[in-house]
Amino acid sequence: MRAMHISPDEALLTRIVDDLAERGWSQQDIFLPETLTRELALECRKRAAEGELAPAAVGRGPAQEIREGIRGDHIQWLEPGQAEPCDRYLQLMDSLRQTLNRGLFLGLEDFEAHFALYPPGAFYRRHVDRFRDDDKRMVSAVIYLNDASWQPEDGGQLRMFFKDGVEHDVQPIGGCLVVFLSGDMPHEVLPATRDRLSLTGWFRRRGNEPFEL
Ligand code: OGA
Ligand code: MN
Repeated sequence: MRAMHISPDEALLTRIVDDLAERGWSQQDIFLPETLTRELALECRKRAAEGELAPAAVGRGPAQEIREGIRGDHIQWLEPGQAEPCDRYLQLMDSLRQTLNRGLFLGLEDFEAHFALYPPGAFYRRHVDRFRDDDKRMVSAVIYLNDASWQPEDGGQLRMFFKDGVEHDVQPIGGCLVVFLSGDMPHEVLPATRDRLSLTGWFRRRGNEPFEL
C-alpha cells in the first residue's frame, strides 16, 4: 500500500469501541473527512459509469443469486492499490480494526469492503450480515458517501432493529459511520429517491470456533 498516512483520531476510535462493547453498535456522524468522502464518492460514481459495479447477490458460494426483491444495490469489492482514496479508507479501517482488537479481543484479522450504489427505488430487505454457514464476519461498518443535501424525504435510511423492539433510522449522509456486531443486529435499507452511495465493510476473524462477546 502507498505510504499515505492520515492520523486517525484515537479518541474517536476508542469511543466506537466503547459503544460496541456497551450496546453492540455505534454511529459517528462525522467520521470521514469531507475531502475523502468527496473523493470516494467520485471514485464510486466513476466505477459505476464505467460499468464496474454489478448487481449484488444474496447468499454465499454456489447458493448465490441475484434477487432484486431482497436487495437491489450494485457493488464492487475493493482491492488495495487501485485508487489512492480507497487506500486511505482501507488504512483508516485498519486503524479501527486494531483499536477493536485492543479493546474487545475480537481477533479481527481481515477486512473486506465494497462500494454500493442503490439506484432510486432499490432497497435491501431486513437481514443479518453474518452467514449461517460462515460466522467469520464479526463487525459491520457502513460509511455513507452522499452529499450533505440529503433529506429525510429522500429515503435510503438504514433501519436497525434492536432487541427491545426499538427501531433506529440512520440518514445516509456523507461521512457518517455506522458500526454494529454482524451477528445480531437485524437491519434493512429503505428505498431512496436518488442514488444512494456507500462503502460497506466487514471485520473478520479467521476461525469458525464459537464465540461469545
Ligand atoms: C449491507 C447493508 C447497509 C447500508 O450491505 O449488508 O446492510 O446502510 N448495508 O448500506
Ligand atoms: Mn447488511
